[in-house]
Amino acid sequence: MYVKKAVRSGDRGARMDRRDFLRSSGLALGGAAAGVLGSRLATEEGFIHSARASAAGGVDPMFDGADFIDIIERDEGLSIPPTSFVPQDTEPDQVFAIGFGEGRTYLGEGVMYDGFVIDGRIPGPTLIAEQGEIVRMEITNTGDIPHGASIHAADTQTSKYLGEIGPGETKSVTFRAAMPGVYMYHCAPGGHAIPMHTMFGQYGMIVVRPAQQPYRLEAELGHGPDVELFLLQHEVYASGAEAVEGTAQYVAFNGQIFRYLLDPVQARPGDYVRINFLNVGPNQLSTFHLVGILWDYVYWQGHPEAWMPGGQTVTAGPSDSWVIEFRVPPDEGTYLMVDHSFGAASMGAIGALVCTADAETPATVKAEGPEHTAEELDAFAAEAKRTLSPYVAPSANNPNPARADRKVRWGDDTEEVIIEIRGNTFSPKVVEVAAGTQVTWVNEDALTFLHGEYSGAHNAVTTAGPVSFATRMLGHAESDSVVVDEPGEYTYICAPHPYMVGRLIVRERA
Ligand code: CU
Ligand code: CU
Repeated sequence: MYVKKAVRSGDRGARMDRRDFLRSSGLALGGAAAGVLGSRLATEEGFIHSARASAAGGVDPMFDGADFIDIIERDEGLSIPPTSFVPQDTEPDQVFAIGFGEGRTYLGEGVMYDGFVIDGRIPGPTLIAEQGEIVRMEITNTGDIPHGASIHAADTQTSKYLGEIGPGETKSVTFRAAMPGVYMYHCAPGGHAIPMHTMFGQYGMIVVRPAQQPYRLEAELGHGPDVELFLLQHEVYASGAEAVEGTAQYVAFNGQIFRYLLDPVQARPGDYVRINFLNVGPNQLSTFHLVGILWDYVYWQGHPEAWMPGGQTVTAGPSDSWVIEFRVPPDEGTYLMVDHSFGAASMGAIGALVCTADAETPATVKAEGPEHTAEELDAFAAEAKRTLSPYVAPSANNPNPARADRKVRWGDDTEEVIIEIRGNTFSPKVVEVAAGTQVTWVNEDALTFLHGEYSGAHNAVTTAGPVSFATRMLGHAESDSVVVDEPGEYTYICAPHPYMVGRLIVRERA
């Protein structure tokens, strides 16, 4: 499905409203992070011709090629790959159709997670393209609120095509996978929702395999990897406030804490191992290390020309990536994979590479979260030690709440209680006060441009309780107060972000 806008470049400026400006000026966080590194793609006459045809015939109104053909011809003469831009009617070599929505996953160790998902998982599916291929991303919103996508592998606007996808809607973008590397993709509906949805779980790995030259260990050994591991490190937050502050509750490799400690990656002595490592973050630095292994070669962001020999770790900030190659020593044993920023390892970012002579290789491990049926998730939920959600107040029967989920109780002598709204979360999520206490909501979300899901403007509106109350809509650093005299349990939400749930318990004054 194409979404075409009949806007000529000449009048685009005049028609650009504030939201378009915010989106195109970088708030959509789109575009590739890849640096300018050598490696020349063969000139592709077909592409130039189709661009010209498009410009001349007006086949694709999104591409005013007549204005830009000079740029395409200039790029054709450079020693670096062209950008990813292609006319949107270009026939794709691969179509990646994925669904963005809200949902729950199992984090391992008895912990359920209620957040935002891609194809029902965290991380979403691992997408693999060859350098030079034309890729079409088809994003379907399977949820109840707007979603969208930013594709870091594309060296062209993706937010323009994939922003603001409403429930039930599908949008697509077609691009050339021009620059080899290991990239992140994530939800990007627009504005404040971009960091929020990403921190709530909507991300995945997209890899562009080099076509012009192999990685060095592959060239040296004359064959591809015996074990190829796509490893995505990501943080899990118990509240939006902790997400904004970067205080993770857990840190995982590929969707579950200690996933490969319980189900180790297998290799044989002497095997050639390649790890496509991506630290999604969204906030913390990772120093990835394999205990007992030195790297043969590492490639910054996965570009085959950006290589370095040796090393004990790779340092990766959020959205940073490496391709790592090494040989397993001629011995049997277990090698631990850790984030050597050890707090993260202790919170779940630790796994094992177990090397035995009878391991079955070649083997591939993808960077996506485990796939579970609804029945399996029900079974995990029935046995769960706790349920974690960044934005939902825990129900009264959540047995072992995380710090962010514990009820905060104020005494009878308290005159005013402050509930901060930060990271699309009421904080504290559960509050108990005596009848007649003044309760004040302060909005600490700073990005309050735009409206609705795209904005950090919030309010507090009851959905259940003895009486109803509502604050006014709060921009950044604005507050509003309510005095509740009627004892009982109140559930309230934010009207623009109805998935945000808070609980207020009002007891009789002693
Ligand atoms: Cu989203
Ligand atoms: Cu809100």
